[in-house]
Amino acid sequence: MFPTTRMRRLREHPVVRDMVAETRITLDGLIAPLFVVEGITAKEEIRSMPGQYRHTVPSLVDECKRLWDLGIKSMIIFGVPAHKDPLGSQGYAANGITQQAMTAIKKGVPGMLVIGDVCLCEYTSHGHCGIIEGERLLNDPTLDLLSRAALSQVEAGADMIAPSDMMDGRVGAIRETLDESGFSHIPIMSYAAKYSSAYYGPFRDAADSAPTFGDRRAYQMDPGALRQALREVELDIEEGADIVMVKPALAYLDVIRAVHEHFPLPVAAYNVSGEYSMVKAAVANGWIDEKRIVLETLTSMKRAGADIVLTYFAGDVARWLAE
Ligand code: PBG
Ligand code: ZN
Repeated sequence: MFPTTRMRRLREHPVVRDMVAETRITLDGLIAPLFVVEGITAKEEIRSMPGQYRHTVPSLVDECKRLWDLGIKSMIIFGVPAHKDPLGSQGYAANGITQQAMTAIKKGVPGMLVIGDVCLCEYTSHGHCGIIEGERLLNDPTLDLLSRAALSQVEAGADMIAPSDMMDGRVGAIRETLDESGFSHIPIMSYAAKYSSAYYGPFRDAADSAPTFGDRRAYQMDPGALRQALREVELDIEEGADIVMVKPALAYLDVIRAVHEHFPLPVAAYNVSGEYSMVKAAVANGWIDEKRIVLETLTSMKRAGADIVLTYFAGDVARWLAE
């Protein structure tokens, strides 16, 4: 009891403060999401995501070198093809833009862990994450295309596969395809609890992947669900997921915590495009301190139980931590 007990004792000396800080951001746990676009001749800044670019293959490799030199050792790649079709065929084309970019990064920055986001919405003309019949997304036929996309990415050099489509059974289908093809050593980080979220808006501008009709509520989760997230995670683990992801992150810290407590697997959290853009907009207005806000926010994700954070701020964090 006070006055014997004084919580402030551990806050007085800066060394002691750091000693008892409990949660720390380390660069090992950060993954940088990057976009590569087919058919452009120079990188383009994404209007709703200041500081983030739609890259050409060479500018993407340069960005990976820059990140590597800062201490960021993993990235996830989103490819945007020049031509989209109903089946998203560029998503599983051997020479698609994503596959080309993967090969180029492995050559230019050999140590970089290249993660392949596997989904079809960046490649389909209708912007949905699989095969459409009328206004319905067909689950089972989509699994074959997702498996082909994953395999083509691994053949192009991807070190890890991250399915983000939310079809039932896709982790198992991809695991089976990779294993049959001699890639049983490639881990799967599944977007296990992916919510249908307005926070993906800026990403869809960047990847030109907004659905042309309807929305993704028939496959992505409802924001109110928590127990369902545990079921999704459980199923993905049974199907062979090695790392499970919660997405978005900031509005879903309780989900991150619940997944962390229920399952002994590494948990990833995706600090998504809308979370990035909101910070950037406030910073542009001079309303908040960017460095402090970002470090505090990422700390909260780790405190909630995330081992890994995918964040567009990865490079900035590396710079700040080095200061
Ligand atoms: C593809 C995919 C999306 C994101 C990651 N993978 C968009 C979506 O589901 O519409 C969003 C990432 C972000 O907003 O930063 N399915
Ligand atoms: Zn998708």
